[in-house]
Amino acid sequence: MSLVVTATGTEVGKTVVSALLLARYRQASYWKPVASGACEGSDSETVQRLAPEGTRILEEGYSFDPPVSPHLAARWAGESIEVERLVPKGRESGLVIEGIGGVMVPLRDDGVLFLDLLVQWGQPCLLVASSQLGTLNHTLLSLAALRAQRVPVAGVVLNGPPNRDNREAIERFGEVEVIAELPVLDPLNRSTVTQAASGFDTAGQLAGLLDQSQGECR
Ligand SMILES: Nc1ncnc2c1ncn2[C@@H]1O[C@H](COP(=O)(O)OP(=O)(O)O)[C@@H](O)[C@H]1O
Ligand SMILES: [Mg+2]
Repeated sequence: MSLVVTATGTEVGKTVVSALLLARYRQASYWKPVASGACEGSDSETVQRLAPEGTRILEEGYSFDPPVSPHLAARWAGESIEVERLVPKGRESGLVIEGIGGVMVPLRDDGVLFLDLLVQWGQPCLLVASSQLGTLNHTLLSLAALRAQRVPVAGVVLNGPPNRDNREAIERFGEVEVIAELPVLDPLNRSTVTQAASGFDTAGQLAGLLDQSQGECR
């Protein structure tokens, strides 16, 4: 199975949370179906640096250099993203799929959104949100968009300095579970990510979604 790591927006923490999941569930592989901003270093490269050595990273579906929305990056490259081609590899045992931007990012000029890809896949997603001011609106809007299309939501990860009030509000008003809170890692490197992974999803709630038989850090 696959777990899609999406977020309330860009730069919210999808790549870091993906690396953390790969450190927590070591048999899982990583896939970034559509990447933009590759000229500034790709998410696949960052994951390779932060996740355990030997983590399997699949080839990106599409990769564009400019750090802009995929629909625009594709247009500038004279291409069009063929969403039917973006199929998670079924034979992979546990696939962490990192989304792009937020839930409603456009993939194509004809209005196809990342959300449409989520519907096509039907795989559960984990929503990464900031722990800080402004997160309630962004998180509740993202949950509403996902649920309106019946995309299964596995839970929320709050990234940043712990904020109990925001956590409670998201669980209550969003009717969702905050599976983990990820503090700021300073420095951010493989060792601190591995350390943080041992306290991430301690109940092993995501283990089944990533085809891991046991919810333990190995
Ligand atoms: N918990 C964290 N601790 C330290 N730095 C973080 C943390 N989460 C995110 N960052 C930093 O914030 C930036 C955005 O995070 P990233 O995971 O790349 O977001 P996204 O993939 O959603 O665009 C990156 O520079 C990343 O290193
Ligand atoms: Mg990223």
